[in-house]
Amino acid sequence: MSAFPDGFLWGTATSAHQVEGGNTNNDWWDFEHNPASAARSSSGDGIDHFHRYAEDFALLASLGHNTHRLSLEWSRIEPAPGEFSRAAIAHYRRVLTALAGTGMTAFVTLHHFTLPRWFAVRGGWLAPDAIDVFTRYCAFVSRELGSLMPFICTINEPQMIALHGYLEGYHPPGVTNPVLWKRAGEALLGAHLAAVPAIRAEATGRIGLAVQLPLLAPARDDAACDAFCRAMRHEIVDRYLDGLATVDGGDWLGVQYYRKQWVDPASPTLFAAPPPGFPLTQMGWAVHPDGLREMLHRAAATGLPLYVTENGIATDDDTERVAYLEGHLAALARAIAEGVDVRGYLHWSAFDNFEWSEGYRPRFGLIAVDDDFTRRPKPSAGVFARIIRNGIAS
Ligand code: NOJ
Repeated sequence: MSAFPDGFLWGTATSAHQVEGGNTNNDWWDFEHNPASAARSSSGDGIDHFHRYAEDFALLASLGHNTHRLSLEWSRIEPAPGEFSRAAIAHYRRVLTALAGTGMTAFVTLHHFTLPRWFAVRGGWLAPDAIDVFTRYCAFVSRELGSLMPFICTINEPQMIALHGYLEGYHPPGVTNPVLWKRAGEALLGAHLAAVPAIRAEATGRIGLAVQLPLLAPARDDAACDAFCRAMRHEIVDRYLDGLATVDGGDWLGVQYYRKQWVDPASPTLFAAPPPGFPLTQMGWAVHPDGLREMLHRAAATGLPLYVTENGIATDDDTERVAYLEGHLAALARAIAEGVDVRGYLHWSAFDNFEWSEGYRPRFGLIAVDDDFTRRPKPSAGVFARIIRNGIAS
C-alpha cells in the first residue's frame, strides 16, 4: 500500500527570478550588481525559462509530475507604482495556460523574494504603505489570472526575507538590525493576512503561505543558549504559525524544510557549525530527514492542511540527492502515518538555477542545464518519477 493518500500532489518548485532571466527591474538585480553586497554573481539570463516555459512544463509532465509551483515576477507586472503591464499579464496568462494544458496543477506564488525597484527604493517592507501596495498588486493579479491559479501562495518564506534581509544582511536590503528584523517580520505577516481577503474577493483559488521551518536546536546546553534558541524559534517559527491560527490565515500552509540548525548567541552569524556526524550539502547545511517529520507536526497545530512546497539538496553528487529525497519522503510518510494531513510534496528544484547570493554554484535541480540551456534530467529525476508511480513501502 502506498504511504501517500489518493490525489497526492507531486511535483517541483521554481521561482521567477531564479529561472526566468532578464529580471532587471527589481531589488535583487541591483543587489547582484552592487560590488559591496553579499551577492556573488548576476542572475543574468537565468535558465531562460521566460522563453522555454512550454518545453519545461512538458518535460516535467513527462516525468510523471501532476503539479508545478512557480512565481510571478511582481516587477514585470507592476513596473511603476500603480502601473500594470498588459504585456506581462498576457505573458503569464500564456504561461499558466500552457501549464494547465499539461494537466499539472499550478501553485502560483505572488511574491518570491524579489521586489519591484520602486517599491524597494521607497522602503520595501518597512514603507508605511507597504501592506496596501502589496494588497493592491495581489488583487490585480487575482482579478486577471485568478481562473488559472488553483493554488495561490501570497508570500514565499516571509521569515527568511526578514532574517536574511534585515538581520543577516546577505539578501536585499542588506540590513543587519535586530529591531528592523522584527519590524519587517511583522509587516510581512501583516501583508499575508491583508492579502487573503483581497484575493478571496477576486479569485476562487485556495490561498496559502509558504514558510521555511528549519529544525532549530541550541548549540550548547546552557541557559543563555537555550533562551536565545527560544527567541529565534519565536521569530522564525511561532510568530507565523500562531499568527495564521488567529484570523483567516488562508486555506493551506506550505512547509519548506531543508535542514537542522544550531543556534549560538556567541557566534557572529548567530548559528554554530553543525556538529560532526551530519552529512553537509554544498550550502554547508546539515542533512536531518526526521526534522521534516517534526516540523510537519509543529505546522499541523495551525489546523491547516499542509503541502511540502519545498525540500531539496544542493549537491554535484546526484547519489546524495537520491538519498536526500528518499530519506525525506520516508520522514514525510511517517508524519502522514502519524496522522498529519499532508497533501503534496514539491521538490526544490526542477532545474539547477540561480541560488540568490550564492549564484549558480549550488545545484539543487533534478534536471541539469547546460551552458546552451539544454535540459538534462539527472538519475534522481528518474527515481522521483518511480516513487510518484509506485509510492514507497509503508
Ligand atoms: C528557499 C527559497 O524559497 C528558494 O528560493 C531557495 O532557492 C531555496 N530555499 C534553497 O535555498
